[in-house]
Amino acid sequence: MKSVLEQLKAKREAARIGGGEKRIAAQHQKGKLTARERLDVLLDKDSFEEFDMFVEHDCTEFGMADRKIPGDGVVTGSGAVNGRLVYVFAKDFTVFGGSLSAAHARKICKVQDAALKNGAPIIGLFDAGGARIQEGVDALGGYAEIFQRNTLASGVIPQISVIMGPCAGGDVYSPAITDFIFMVKDTSYMYVTGPDVVKTVTNEIVTHEELGGASVHARRSGVAEGAFENDIEALIQVRRLIDFLPLSNRETPPVRKVFDSAGRQESSLDTLAPANPNKPYDIKELIGKVADEGDVFEIAPDYATNIVVGFGRLEGRTVGFVANQPLSLAGVLDIDASKKAGRFVRFCDAFGIPLITFVDVPGFLPGVKQEYGGLIKHGAKLLFAYAEATVPKLTVIIRKAYGGAYDVMASKHLRGDINYAWPRAEIAVMGAKGAAEIIHRKDLGDDEKMAEHVREYEDRFANPFIAASRGFLDDVIQPRNTRYRLIRALRTLRNKELANPWKKHDNIPL
Ligand code: HXC
Repeated sequence: MKSVLEQLKAKREAARIGGGEKRIAAQHQKGKLTARERLDVLLDKDSFEEFDMFVEHDCTEFGMADRKIPGDGVVTGSGAVNGRLVYVFAKDFTVFGGSLSAAHARKICKVQDAALKNGAPIIGLFDAGGARIQEGVDALGGYAEIFQRNTLASGVIPQISVIMGPCAGGDVYSPAITDFIFMVKDTSYMYVTGPDVVKTVTNEIVTHEELGGASVHARRSGVAEGAFENDIEALIQVRRLIDFLPLSNRETPPVRKVFDSAGRQESSLDTLAPANPNKPYDIKELIGKVADEGDVFEIAPDYATNIVVGFGRLEGRTVGFVANQPLSLAGVLDIDASKKAGRFVRFCDAFGIPLITFVDVPGFLPGVKQEYGGLIKHGAKLLFAYAEATVPKLTVIIRKAYGGAYDVMASKHLRGDINYAWPRAEIAVMGAKGAAEIIHRKDLGDDEKMAEHVREYEDRFANPFIAASRGFLDDVIQPRNTRYRLIRALRTLRNKELANPWKKHDNIPL
């Protein structure tokens, strides 16, 4: 008879092999790692503490009583990312296609509870066929238990989902509630109902990739915050992201040792924004030059490219950058940009991450499509997010700040702590040409007179000094000193105290 220790070893080995060598080989053939291999890449070496490796389902329908695999299709536990605690669950596609049974759901709930109680991020790796079809309502109930915990943890601990294979039906809504969704190109897809159901219901014929591939969600729908080339790159990037984030809302963001001088000047910034307001430039150059060592983790880089959001550091401390991008749609605010940036601002505020906003915005995008799509409500999301945020808010107007978009982009009036402008900033109700055409409608057609009116409007408003004279700007700064001025301003805000009135919760325009 085997010794107890040998029995334990054998049981562990049985659990580790999951659905068996054949299914593991099939997984590799599709270009995917197994759940355990993924955790090896995601977590620091030897840091993984597995929970519940012997859990089995309790379903007896459809011959399932004889088909039990220890672990039941999900590997769960805790580990470390660069020495900091995280909780993880990784769906194991080799076991019943990673499908969710009641027992499988209980394992995920256990790590969710531990993450919330102990104040550490939770990372879910998805690769599964949805609800365990043999289980019925037990599986449905299991999903709802997970969604409930996702919701309660929102804003308390960072929650990250990585889609690394199929993710359909019940599996999509847990990621949807989390803070960030990343996908792997070509091998992952996400949808509520798959191509077969779509064909039956709407008669549309689409492939998995066309319906819910990484390019759809990272570019068009905005469901995913990023798409990576393969499993390894996705997991390494999640490690990088974790380095920027506090473990929970009870902690301040991590401080990292940096070798970049606080007083570093960037003379190239003096000529970054062209004098001609219609000429574009790349706002990412500014963010890269301001951030410590140029290290920036951009969120949703391929969606709503007219606004750029991402994490960086100043003096080793995490900040969230939000910046209009003149290279894309002239940096205009539209529905997608407002949603993308609004959500990012709220994440930063929930986790005590100061906001640095770079403004070069011609206004909100006019048009029937935008208005029918609800630009008013969606634009209000970004306005609301900035207005309610109590973290340090630093704003630099680079060039244009026109109309309502001036107000929205962390203006002084929305409790901006320090508001700067570059010398070429233009703060006005609208661009000079549009303004002249409205004020001097009677002179339309007289090019000479109109040119004079445009010049007059430009002279009056195409500078930051009227706003500065009202105290709406705290200073007009030299572009080359932007990094230093922001760092100095941030130092003054380390003990900032500001609270909103008590409420059960707000009612952001959804
Ligand atoms: C039980 C499942 C399963 C499931 C897959 N498997 N999905 N077992 N329940 N939902 C099993 C398969 O039987 C197979 O077992 C193994 O996993 C691999 O599946 P394959 O089909 O061979 O793999 P592949 O060809 O890669 O196709 C993957 C797939 C497909 C596209 C995900 O399996 C699929 O369509 N599955 C069903 C998806 C689905 O309709 N789920 C229910 C969603 S409804 P063996 O033993 O052969 O290896 C839902 C409602 C919840 O989730 C709502 C809550 C809010």
